[in-house]
Amino acid sequence: MPKILVTGGAGYIGSITAHLLARRGYGVVVVDDLSRGHQHNIGSLPFEKLNVVDTPALVGLLSLEHVDAVVHFAAYLSVGESVAKPELYFSNNVGGTLSLLNAMAKAQVKHLVFSSSAAVYGTQELPSIPEDAPFAPVSPYGETKLMVENVLRSLDRYSGLRSIALRYFNACGSDPESGLGEEHEPETHLIPLLLKAVVTGNPITIFGDDYDTQDGTCIRDYVHVADLAEAHLLALEKLLGGGASDAFNVGTGVGHSVLQVLRAIEEVTGRTVPYEMGPRRAGDPAVLVANSDKLQRVLGWKPRFADLVDIVETAWQFEKNKGKREYPK
Ligand SMILES: NC(=O)c1ccc[n+]([C@@H]2O[C@H](COP(=O)([O-])OP(=O)(O)OC[C@H]3O[C@@H](n4cnc5c(N)ncnc54)[C@H](O)[C@@H]3O)[C@@H](O)[C@H]2O)c1
Repeated sequence: MPKILVTGGAGYIGSITAHLLARRGYGVVVVDDLSRGHQHNIGSLPFEKLNVVDTPALVGLLSLEHVDAVVHFAAYLSVGESVAKPELYFSNNVGGTLSLLNAMAKAQVKHLVFSSSAAVYGTQELPSIPEDAPFAPVSPYGETKLMVENVLRSLDRYSGLRSIALRYFNACGSDPESGLGEEHEPETHLIPLLLKAVVTGNPITIFGDDYDTQDGTCIRDYVHVADLAEAHLLALEKLLGGGASDAFNVGTGVGHSVLQVLRAIEEVTGRTVPYEMGPRRAGDPAVLVANSDKLQRVLGWKPRFADLVDIVETAWQFEKNKGKREYPK
């Protein structure tokens, strides 16, 4: 079976994908600098603690391990932080990726799956966004993802690197198979923040209820992390089977408002979510929902967790087990 290098494999989506690949029989090597991830997510998978800006170390590892393809998650992902510290985001997300691409060229590794984001689309007033919608990122974070996608398009042409960019919408939930879930520090994502409000009793602030949506709150596309991991596997298989470079949205195609997510949390936990309504946050589009027809049609992807309540249930199981979680051995 092919050997896959997973960068950022101590993080949320990277670790769940790395364990899925290992369960499906792939050889896996995890690289992470542990700046934002957790050693406990890696379990017994082969692991090298290194920063992807270290090109020589990556060349050595890719060659030594005879790596066939790379799945590249390693990046910083907070939109707000990227606005405050754009240089950090350009150097880590773009600089780190350029270093990895250099190392891959030197070690002659020709296949890459890249964690892109719906942030490349920015503010669009479309009911659902297809892959050919115009790029219009509204944060340095979104810019970093678009810059890398542009480099990948160029390398496809000039170096023969075959890559698939997966543009995730809102990743969420915990993975029933590995038992892993979302533990960002600090957490900025809605579902874990709502669950935290339930557990602590401290109200969460909702950013705006005067958008042009049914209940006035923002609408997003929540995709379960296990379904996201599956999309990586399908993308890898396509590349390793000789497929062309491409880009796909990864989302369910169904939007939920902030208040709908809050109600789903109340249904699952049986408790009231304390919240207060705040003003809009800069740069938040009213609606961000994927058109994921292409992913379904070309790669045969189908979400296992299509229902918001089922998704929230897995996140609640993870939150409830805090302190007594069993991480992969
Ligand atoms: N979580 C989401 O909803 C979401 C949505 C869209 C895109 N993404 C993208 O998916 C990827 C993974 O997201 P996540 O939620 O798992 O984040 P995460 O922070 O949990 O994982 C990222 C991992 O990368 C590592 N890392 C960061 N910079 C590194 C470097 N220079 N060298 C080595 N390791 C480094 C961190 O230590 C961390 O373990 C990111 O690229 C992110 O931009 C995430």
